[in-house]
Amino acid sequence: MRSIIKGGTIVTSHSKFQADILIDNEKIESIGKNLVNNDAKIIDAEGKYVLPGAIDAHTHLEFPFNGTTSADSYFTGTRAGACGGVTTVFDFVTQRKGQGIREAVKPRHDLCAPQACIDYSFHVALTDLTDEVLNEFSAAAAEGLPSYKLFMVYKKDGLMMDDAAIYKALERSKETGTLIAVHAENPDVIDLNIERFKKSGKLSPWYHYLSRPEAVEAEADIRAIHWAKTLKAPLYIVHLANNIGMKAVQDARAEGYEIYAETCPQYLHFTCDVYKRPDARNFVCSPPMKGQESQDALWQGIKDGFIDVIATDHCPFRQEQKDWGKDDFTKIPNGCMGIETLYPYMLSQARAGRISFEKAVELCAENPARIFGCQNKGALEPGKDADIVLYDPDIENIITQTNMHSDCDYTIWEGMPIHGKIIATYSRGKQVYANGTFTGEAGWGKFVPCYR
Ligand code: URP
Ligand code: ZN
Ligand code: ZN
Repeated sequence: MRSIIKGGTIVTSHSKFQADILIDNEKIESIGKNLVNNDAKIIDAEGKYVLPGAIDAHTHLEFPFNGTTSADSYFTGTRAGACGGVTTVFDFVTQRKGQGIREAVKPRHDLCAPQACIDYSFHVALTDLTDEVLNEFSAAAAEGLPSYKLFMVYKKDGLMMDDAAIYKALERSKETGTLIAVHAENPDVIDLNIERFKKSGKLSPWYHYLSRPEAVEAEADIRAIHWAKTLKAPLYIVHLANNIGMKAVQDARAEGYEIYAETCPQYLHFTCDVYKRPDARNFVCSPPMKGQESQDALWQGIKDGFIDVIATDHCPFRQEQKDWGKDDFTKIPNGCMGIETLYPYMLSQARAGRISFEKAVELCAENPARIFGCQNKGALEPGKDADIVLYDPDIENIITQTNMHSDCDYTIWEGMPIHGKIIATYSRGKQVYANGTFTGEAGWGKFVPCYR
């Protein structure tokens, strides 16, 4: 089945230009002016922007965490992604103690394959870094799994990896061409702060922020960067949310080190003031939103090219789950939603002139594809998968949970005005979303092996 997307403005990470796109057999066959093909179905994109589908490089679907499970299944999470212009997700698989890498991933493949509406890949969150696991890095990379996350926190959840593990993982990643990502916060200072706040009855969500403020995150950023520099290994910092860490990334990059930084829309839009709101518990995630200076530094980092990826850390918990911590912030499951609002939010920022559309494409599609090695994704080019989004820059809209496609029963983005609207999403040429309606199907999404 062939189709031509006709008359739109194509946006790449470097330019915007008017051209048509011919799609054949799930791939972009050609891009050019006035393309003609008698067999092709015509998709009219006059007055619209034509963008590569977003890659959400950080999601937690059906994630067992904090004594519960995140609200979106692979079906509802990828459905929400499709409706927000996301065409590939990188979901986290947690290695259980004693498991091998591929042993950990196998059941997630089985769970994901019949449910996924868009393409998917995995990062493996390592929790037990044995010699066998280190020796498996190469074989796993050969099967398209080149990236690992190490949590420097969540000691009580059994997820935390110590400095020796970080050091060994970085060493091995350098030898095998793989990539280590870290969730950087200092666990001991967090635990100390929590213990003190608990003793004095300070249990509102504001103390979630105060137990893990800027310096707590920054120390771990600096520590991880230090080991990466020492070993000359690449490092990817997930959900960077503080100004001091931003500066450390910038300095390391200026010295020529391969340090990547990811942040998320929630850190670009909200500050720690949200933890004073009546619905503060819904904003509890780790790291927490920080002060205005941090938010400004992240935006500056985007403009200066030191933030490489905007992803979501999509990990929603339903209201009833968040309510467990109504009177005690330590009982609130950590995580926020964002997969359906990632691209709309970033494109809205572009529409408002804060960044260019090209920059939005670079951060949300091209860079994650490049960094994690998804050869067929992330750009509108002949030979790549036809993962395409149509965006109408002239429609104004407001985010509301009733229009969302996640299984979560609220959104932290409720009431936010958005400039421009995604009007259609194509996953390998198949329409999966159009004008407010999900048109895809469970099981369409395929595993994307990635090779760095
Ligand atoms: O609060 C968060 N971010 N929950 C998801 C797990 C993680 O730390 O990425
Ligand atoms: Zn994290
Ligand atoms: Zn996460």
